[in-house]
Amino acid sequence: MEKIGLFYGSDTGVTDDITKDFVDLWGSDDLEVMEVGDANVEDFEKYKVLFLGLSTWYDGDLQSDWETFFDEFNTIDFTGKIVAIYGLGDQIGYAEYFVDGIGILAKVIIQNGGKVIGHWPTEGYRHTDSVAFVGDEEDYFYGLALDNDNESQLNDIRLTTWIEQIKKELNTILISEQVL
Ligand SMILES: Cc1cc2nc3c(=O)[nH]c(=O)nc-3n(C[C@H](O)[C@H](O)[C@H](O)COP(=O)(O)O)c2cc1C
Repeated sequence: MEKIGLFYGSDTGVTDDITKDFVDLWGSDDLEVMEVGDANVEDFEKYKVLFLGLSTWYDGDLQSDWETFFDEFNTIDFTGKIVAIYGLGDQIGYAEYFVDGIGILAKVIIQNGGKVIGHWPTEGYRHTDSVAFVGDEEDYFYGLALDNDNESQLNDIRLTTWIEQIKKELNTILISEQVL
C-alpha cells in the first residue's frame, strides 16, 4: 500500500497527543509520521496523500513550527495530491479565530493545485468566525476541528467519525483515478 505522510506541529503537546490517538484509530501501518519542525519540502513531495495536524495560536496564527515552515510550505506543488487537515483550537477563548490554522493551510494547498478532503460540519460549535470556513456558507470547516480546551470528551468520537469519512473519500477518489 502506498504510504501516507502525516505532518504535525504542537506547542503544548495537545496536537501531539491527538496525533497519537489518530494513528491508533487509523489502525493500519501505512502512515509515516513526522513533526513539521523536522520536515522539509522534499518530505512533503514524497507523498500523494498527506494528513496535516496543527493548532492555532495568538489570534489566528499558525502553531509555531508551521509558522516557521510556512514560507517553504507555500512553495510546494500540491498538484495531484490529496490532503486532510485536523486542527486544535479553543472556540470559547478564541471564538473569532477558531481553528484558523486549518484554513490558512487549506488555502495554500488549493491555490497550489491540491485537493482538500475531510470537510467537517460547523454545526454545534460556538465559534463566531474562522478562516477555516469553506466558502461563504460557513457550514463546513476545511478539516476536522477539535477543541480540547472545552470539549475534550468529544475528541474520540470526532476523530473516529472523521477517520471513517476520510477513508471513504480517499477510496472514492483513488478508485476513480484508476478507472480514468
Ligand atoms: C495564547 C493562546 C492563544 C491561542 N489562540 C488561539 C486561536 O487564535 N484560535 C484557536 O482556535 N485557538 C487558540 N488557542 C487554543 C489552542 O489552539 C489550543 O489550546 C490547542 O489545544 C493547543 O494545542 P498544542 O498544544 O498542540 O499547540 C490559543 C491558546 C493560547 C494559550
